[in-house]
Amino acid sequence: MIIRPRRLRQSKTLREMVRETSISARDFIYPLFVKHGRSLKEPIASMPGQYQFSVDTLVEEAEEAWSLGVPAVILFGLPDRKDAVGSRSYADDGIVQQALSAIKGRVPDMVLMTDVCLCEYTDHGHCGMIKEGRVDNDATLELLAKQAVSHAVAGAHFVAPSDMMDGRVAAIRSALDAAGFQDTGILAYAVKYASGFYGPFREAAESAPRFGDRTSYQMDPPNAREALKEALLDMEEGADMIMVKPALAYLDIIRRVREECLLPLAAYNVSGEYAMVKAAQNQGWIDGEKIMMEILLSIKRAGADLILTYFAKEAAKVLGQSIL
Ligand code: PBG
Repeated sequence: MIIRPRRLRQSKTLREMVRETSISARDFIYPLFVKHGRSLKEPIASMPGQYQFSVDTLVEEAEEAWSLGVPAVILFGLPDRKDAVGSRSYADDGIVQQALSAIKGRVPDMVLMTDVCLCEYTDHGHCGMIKEGRVDNDATLELLAKQAVSHAVAGAHFVAPSDMMDGRVAAIRSALDAAGFQDTGILAYAVKYASGFYGPFREAAESAPRFGDRTSYQMDPPNAREALKEALLDMEEGADMIMVKPALAYLDIIRRVREECLLPLAAYNVSGEYAMVKAAQNQGWIDGEKIMMEILLSIKRAGADLILTYFAKEAAKVLGQSIL
């Protein structure tokens, strides 16, 4: 007798019945870039289909994503000017602050998340404050906390620190609580590697470091145990959800964090992962849609509950409102 696994693959209906992993638009968090100005929708060359929006066009984009079943956006701001401490990141009239209230007015039930970091706002492009040529951890915490509170005031439901400074989740949590924002959540970029996959994003967010790199604060790619340490630390510091980033080259990390940590787990399908698919698709070398779905599925199968992805709208269209 031969055991015949193929019996379960005989028809589409049957295959769907025995499917172990599902994916839906509800799993997606859509990253969006917003800048000052009006009626802007400027294409990002290395990320075909992605744009830098002004607040008015951003609201339309968020609304469209919402109507496709995407429940959440995460906002990245491009300030009107940069300085040494990134002061436009915590200004009342800052670009993310304006975007938050605009989206809230039009799509009130959408979950609004914001990236909390300094790199887009500092003239040196690093994620923290520079002292004597180095990124100063503890001086940065205060700025991050200010930025997080400012986003909460403007209507963010979740703030997502991506800077990788030590102790920032605790610092942000206590600042939010002290300001009366007990209900504003933290999605911590707990496990964030110093990755080449962020290249296109740095063009999109105009946030490349002017000197050096981010290896003194982002994680070293060979390390997996350290990922668990970071995830558990952020959980203890009060994170409500945690993230692994990038996703594709780190599926093993997603799986391990999933097994060790009880919080909802997000994974960031980052700019370089998106760009590679789009580039090959535009050359006619791959079936982009098929590969997009396969990639998103792989991230869920590895153990992520939520996926931050530039494919959010496109994949939601493929999925309809149903599950794959
Ligand atoms: C800011 C930040 C980065 C990304 C998200 N937040 C870039 C970086 O750390 O250099 C990358 C996202 C992407 O590549 O899609 N610190």
